[in-house]
Amino acid sequence: MTTTPNPLSRVRRRWLLTGGALAAGGTAIGVGTAFGGRTDAGTEPSTADLGAAVVPFHGPHQAGIVTEPQAHAVLLAFDLRPGTDRAALGRMMRLLTDDAARLTTGRAALADTEPELATHPARLTVTFGFGPDLFAAAGRDRDRPASVEPLPAFGIDRLQARWSGGDLLIQVCADDPLTIAHAQRMLVKDTRTFATTRWVQRGFRRAAGVGRTGATQRNIMGQLDGTVQPAAAYHDRAVWISDGPGWLHGGSTLVVRRIRAELETWDAVDRVGKEFAVGRRLDTGAPLTGAAEHDPVDLTATDSLGLPVISEFAHVRRAHTPDETLRILRRPYNYDDGVHPDGTPDAGLIFASFQADIARQFIPVQRALAEVDLLNEWTTPVGSAVFAIPPGCGPDGWIGETLLA
Ligand code: HEM
Repeated sequence: MTTTPNPLSRVRRRWLLTGGALAAGGTAIGVGTAFGGRTDAGTEPSTADLGAAVVPFHGPHQAGIVTEPQAHAVLLAFDLRPGTDRAALGRMMRLLTDDAARLTTGRAALADTEPELATHPARLTVTFGFGPDLFAAAGRDRDRPASVEPLPAFGIDRLQARWSGGDLLIQVCADDPLTIAHAQRMLVKDTRTFATTRWVQRGFRRAAGVGRTGATQRNIMGQLDGTVQPAAAYHDRAVWISDGPGWLHGGSTLVVRRIRAELETWDAVDRVGKEFAVGRRLDTGAPLTGAAEHDPVDLTATDSLGLPVISEFAHVRRAHTPDETLRILRRPYNYDDGVHPDGTPDAGLIFASFQADIARQFIPVQRALAEVDLLNEWTTPVGSAVFAIPPGCGPDGWIGETLLA
């Protein structure tokens, strides 16, 4: 048997030599890569290092937003208990911030009953969000951004209360599901005096190490999903808030839509039909008017009959926003939660979208898609929630301080 050199060890050596940062203690590896601007495959850690990789928790923005999406995510929404006022919210957010900072660097939470489970951060990020009613509970309703309110009703919606709303959001992402389960349990403990869990949505992408870092993920319907995003150069306008309530500068907003995919009827469609519905090819993700994934979509191209190559009703035409400063940053995860009572798969997309302004950026796209989108035949929104995402904090601060202190 012949042996070939392991390409991952070569990558690892090169990565360490070209500035891979070994954090204090010599084990944690900083990999705060941003997506929207793609990472260089040559800088990725080997699979052996995946468990030790750290995304910095502290900074002007919260992690878990422009962070290259990790393989696993859990999104948790909470209802505040009656009487949880601004002071109580401040106590809760201090606890949560402290434990999130510990866990994301591979240290045990303050009251960790299983500290051994904290040792592999695996790019753990914890991102906090405030739902519309938290502001009134804090006596700060005037500081609620106007568009952080339940979305208008859309004709395609079949929303269920058990997947909708929430006063507090915690998004926990990592490349390891056990790391997430542990972090989730520690963080839920911190909230217990102040809030009750409203919903939990668990999602996944390709496992870490499978495929190239920075490659567009494939969703559960088989499509490359996440090609067109605001480029990193536009994040300051498209993703981060710089006007409106001062406490939110450096923050963002999050829309979470749980979208069921009708996989059985989707399976019955041929490839041409599937590609027509989106306007892109299934194999390469290229637009029907191009050859490669990142080729620009030509919405003016017509075929020999004079008909548009990309249908008037195709998803990418309906969702397209030419102005990059108004694009939404999509960070979706797949879900696959068994079967419905009728035996059809309970699967789909936890569609998470970050943007500076929900009303200016998200709603026009969602409205256009709700009006007409071929993909609607196979997708149904069953959950909906919106949150303000406070800015990040330094080591001496806490998330939410600018609103609640
Ligand atoms: C299960 C539901 C959905 C599926 C399967 C889906 C799938 C896709 C796919 C395959 C693409 C083309 C590749 C890409 O650029 O990422 C795309 C593009 C896009 N989607 Fe969706 N999508 C879904 C829901 C939504 C929703 C709810 C929104 C926003 C309200 C949305 C907004 C967009 C945008 C903005 C683009 C880029 C369009 C462009 O400028 O080319 N999608 N989606």
